Order: sequence, then C-alpha cells, then structure tokens
Amino acid sequence: MAEFTLPKNSKIQKGRHFPAPAGAKRVRSFKVYRWSPDDGRNPSTDTYEIDLDQCGPMVLDALIKIKNEIDPTLTFRRSCREGICGSCAMNIDGTNTLACTRAIEDCGKGNGEVPIYPLPHMDVVKDLVPDLTHFYAQYAAIKPWLRTQSAPPPDRERLQSREDRAKLDGLYECILCACCSTSCPSYWWNGDRYLGPAILLQAYRWIIDSRDEDTGARLDDLEDPFRLYRCHTIMNCTRTCPKGLNPAKAIGEIKQMMLARRG
Ligand code: SF4
Ligand code: SF4
Ligand code: FES
Repeated sequence: MAEFTLPKNSKIQKGRHFPAPAGAKRVRSFKVYRWSPDDGRNPSTDTYEIDLDQCGPMVLDALIKIKNEIDPTLTFRRSCREGICGSCAMNIDGTNTLACTRAIEDCGKGNGEVPIYPLPHMDVVKDLVPDLTHFYAQYAAIKPWLRTQSAPPPDRERLQSREDRAKLDGLYECILCACCSTSCPSYWWNGDRYLGPAILLQAYRWIIDSRDEDTGARLDDLEDPFRLYRCHTIMNCTRTCPKGLNPAKAIGEIKQMMLARRG
C-alpha cells in the first residue's frame, strides 16, 4: 500500500474551490485535506461551500453530502454515524474528534471556515484516512482478552461482583478511535515504541479486571522505559477524547500499581 507522511512544516497547496449553489442562504465552507497515492501530486486543501439548509447537522453529514453530490473522489471512513465504531475520527477545527458527533454549528466559531484534516502525525492512506496498522499492532501486543490459568466454572461464565464490574466503567467504553493517541506529543515522537494513551487505557482495562489472572505478566510487559513511561501527563489525550474518557488517569493508575509492587 502506498503511504504518505505529512512532512512537518511542509506547505500544503491550495486546491480547488467548489462554490455553494445559487440561492443558498446559510452557507458554510469546509476546507478539506486531500492527498492521493495515485496522482503524484502534493497534498492540497479543497474548499467546499455547503448550503446548511440542505445538509444534516453533523460534520459527517457535510462530508457525505460532498461525496454524494459534489466530489465522489473524497475519501473518508465512517460506519455507525453514532459515535460507536470510531472509524470517522479526524481532526476537525483543530481538534481530534468524531465527524459523526461533531455539530457543524460548534465549528469555526459558528460561521467561519471548518478545516478538516486526517488524524495528525499518522501515515495517510488517502485524504482523511489514516493508516492505523501500527496502532492496531500495538493493541494486539497487549493481548486484549481475558487471560486465565484456572479452569472455567463448568456450568456458567466467570462472574464478578458489581463492585469489580464497576471498576471497568470509564474504560470499556473506549472505541479505539485513536483521537487521544494522535493528540499526544509523546506518541508523535516515540509512537514506534511508546504505546500511547488509547492502548494503555485498554491495557489497564484488563489489568484491573477481577477475572483476569495474568495481572503480573501484564505489568511486566509494560515495565519498560518507552512502552509506559513516555507519558509525561500533558493531558492532551483526556482533553480530546470524544467519549469523555480519561486515558491519562488510567496511565497514572498503572504507574501507581508499578510503584506499589516495587514496595
Ligand atoms: S480513550 Fe477516547 S480518544 Fe482514546 S481511543 Fe478510546 S475513545 Fe478514542
Ligand atoms: S497524559 Fe500522557 S498519554 Fe496523555 S497526552 Fe499527555 S503524555 Fe500523552
Ligand atoms: S461513524 Fe462510527 S463513530 Fe463516527
């Protein structure tokens, strides 16, 4: 697969401009990052003017309208359109978020241009589609499933108390959209070895699951100068999470557990 890394400080060329239809009264401009591996051209930003009276309320509605009615070459991921699949994560109006839950009227201070870019500091597959291969490989590396040595009960699932189940609240809701990791400066510079906030939140989700029997091995795997300890508590991750989760807190909890077991 051809890939493109947005070079730091590179100039993105001004691209095409698609004016609003005649007679449109409530017009907003969307400035959208474009790059294709197939045409040998530099990245650019195309500007699309949309009549909001003919468009749904969310940024994803505008992108779908652009693709359906103006420019079918525009490429982006989406599936659920209700903040569950995580596939429409992108940088909108300067913030990593989900296009399907971001209201147009909350962007560009209500009437300005709405800039839309792929998640930052990732390779780009095309237009707004980041390459998440490495991110998913890091997720697989933490073995995100219940690990046990004991035999399962013969007649039922492995149960946990309500109190233990409550410890997973604020963690199980993570949709792996990567908004947090791609807003983290430590992940930008050390993402090859630092796991980043999304994967560490997922790691913590299994570390504190009362049914899991591999807590020690999970902590051993994170005891590394890069995998965990590149977090410097900058908090971008927590500020940007579109699900309102707190990856920085989860990372802090793992560090506390590391300290506690050292005695
Ligand atoms: S913690 Fe939030 S921002 Fe990070 S991957 Fe999960 S849902 Fe997305
Ligand atoms: S708190 Fe840690 S993980 Fe979150 S943005 Fe800062 S350095 Fe990255
Ligand atoms: S389309 Fe699924 S989270 Fe936006």
